[in-house]
Amino acid sequence: MAKNKQIREPEGFATWTPSDGHLLDVRNLNVEFNTRDGKAKAINGASFHLDRGETLAILGESGSGKSVTAQTIMGILDSPPASVTGGEILFRGVDLLKLPEEQRRVVRGRKIAMIFQDALSALNPVFTVGWQIAEMFRVHRGCSKAEAKDMAIKLMERVNIPGAAARYGNFPHQFSGGMRQRIMIAMSIALDPEILIADEPTTALDVTVQAQIMELLKELQAETGTGLILITHDLGVVADVADRINVMYAGRIVEQAEAKELYASPAHPYSEGLLNSIPRLDQSTGQLVAIGGLPPNLTKIPEGCAFNPRCRYAQDVCRTGEVPPLVDLGGNRSSACHFVSELVAGTLQPNGLQVVTGIQPAVAEENGDQA
Ligand SMILES: Nc1ncnc2c1ncn2[C@@H]1O[C@H](COP(=O)(O)OP(=O)(O)OP(=O)(O)O)[C@@H](O)[C@H]1O
Ligand SMILES: [Mg+2]
Repeated sequence: MAKNKQIREPEGFATWTPSDGHLLDVRNLNVEFNTRDGKAKAINGASFHLDRGETLAILGESGSGKSVTAQTIMGILDSPPASVTGGEILFRGVDLLKLPEEQRRVVRGRKIAMIFQDALSALNPVFTVGWQIAEMFRVHRGCSKAEAKDMAIKLMERVNIPGAAARYGNFPHQFSGGMRQRIMIAMSIALDPEILIADEPTTALDVTVQAQIMELLKELQAETGTGLILITHDLGVVADVADRINVMYAGRIVEQAEAKELYASPAHPYSEGLLNSIPRLDQSTGQLVAIGGLPPNLTKIPEGCAFNPRCRYAQDVCRTGEVPPLVDLGGNRSSACHFVSELVAGTLQPNGLQVVTGIQPAVAEENGDQA
């Protein structure tokens, strides 16, 4: 069993206050994977922030770099093949990327915790769930066995496990998918982290259970004031929950907006495409329009704006000009599109590129845009 060795917190954590800046400030992050086909540029200058008590959704199609971003923040990236080639991850003003592994471990779990998509593989199959939760209190808080058990049962009750005390001695496989996800949420909040990263926490669950889990996360966040990063490819999941949404494409944030604003009027053609591809009760156009083409091969990201081969507004500057930077539009909103003003004003004309109809943007037919 791990010793309860006290490792000092990084200097600077204790003196930080919210007036010093964002709780989490990711700046110009770059991550590459060495693959047989060359370097896959998974994260390409991603910048975003999170404040205390807020829920930030990171939204994007499969392969846009959402999980790699989360793993980089947590410091659990597989390296090799991955390497962080640039940028900063400031947590309480301290760059996590510069911390020695020993101090990083102090942050992981205790300050920043993560909920994974697949609870069955994240939990240890050979220990009871109660033991696994109690172990956190014993190892990190130095609690006695009896105290830790007591705290674990309380936490199981808090995440609504029926008959928590009786189920303390059950193994992960004895729970349903939704209940296992609740157990993982319990473990993630056990040490009162300041940031919780939930990577597709409900994808594997059916719709009713999804809603219950989202409700639980919302409640816990309101109680604890934790900053929550909710990673999803499903706009429907974040609609009611997120304060702000960051839209990610090919390893960059291409739009950052308050959730309501993004729904009302997207300020990037990719966000517009994502919104157009979900059914909406407030619109009766009758047809869903998915984004044509597929996300780019990350070893061959298109020149200019990475979204240009799929963008129905793309013009020459989008294909050959510089990568459009994320520009602050005021009102807590930013966008990385050369034509954002025209798009927002509603004066941008589509360029005649064929749009593919369907429901799921991620599985839209390949239309020859791939490099
Ligand atoms: N272990 C790995 N080895 C090589 N490349 C990887 C590895 N993990 C991720 N990548 C690359 O990083 C890209 C982004 O992956 P990531 O898992 O962050 O996508 P995602 O946005 O979380 O997608 P999803 O919605 O499918 O979970 C992948 O498309 C892939 O090219
Ligand atoms: Mg992922």
